[in-house]
Amino acid sequence: MEIDPNADGRSMYRTLTGLIVPRPIGWISTTSADGTDNLAPYSFFNGVSIDPPVVMFAPLPRPHGHTDTAANVRETEEFVVNVVTHEFAEAMNETSATVPESESEFDAAELNREPSRAVAPPRVSGIAAALECELYELVPVGDGAAVLGEVVHVHVRDDVTTDGNVDTEKLDVVGRLAGGGYDRVTDRFEMARPD
Ligand SMILES: Cc1cc2nc3c(=O)[nH]c(=O)nc-3n(C[C@H](O)[C@H](O)[C@H](O)COP(=O)(O)O)c2cc1C
Repeated sequence: MEIDPNADGRSMYRTLTGLIVPRPIGWISTTSADGTDNLAPYSFFNGVSIDPPVVMFAPLPRPHGHTDTAANVRETEEFVVNVVTHEFAEAMNETSATVPESESEFDAAELNREPSRAVAPPRVSGIAAALECELYELVPVGDGAAVLGEVVHVHVRDDVTTDGNVDTEKLDVVGRLAGGGYDRVTDRFEMARPD
């Protein structure tokens, strides 16, 4: 199969989300200018740079314009990335429901808030890890955007660390496949880097 994105009627959403797998999930909390805490998953999410430490997520355009997360980041220039582990998978999925702008997904999904150290949006209480971010740059892409955030504080629960470092074996992280498909890391292997 060959696909020309400009000529083919085939869904590029299905093609890209089927091929870029598994994707890490940034569970993004923001707070609107009027103080409503928003929480939603974004799997177009990744790291971009170490110095400065920068991560990105991509709110795709919506028929009515943009997502609440995108609007809040534009307004307040702050967000928190909650790392999605298996214990929070169902709650994460629940927060992808469309709720009115004035309502908080924290309350809809019965999640508690934990204050952040360096930014206003709270993290999910009990989450294994969270990255507190200040907007680094918002890059328009088509009618959507790539939101780049500089990590200004990192929270890691002690039980997912070993000798002071994050231990990915202890972090029961969930990735997104296509559609409603998700995965857990249950089959690991190692390779030595060539010189
Ligand atoms: C696992 C998962 C990953 C998602 N990733 C994205 C994404 O990368 N970009 C996007 O625009 N929407 C994504 N969505 C959909 C949004 O989470 C959903 O539309 C949500 O209601 C947006 O909320 P908001 O308007 O409060 O920001 C994803 C949904 C799920 C369940």
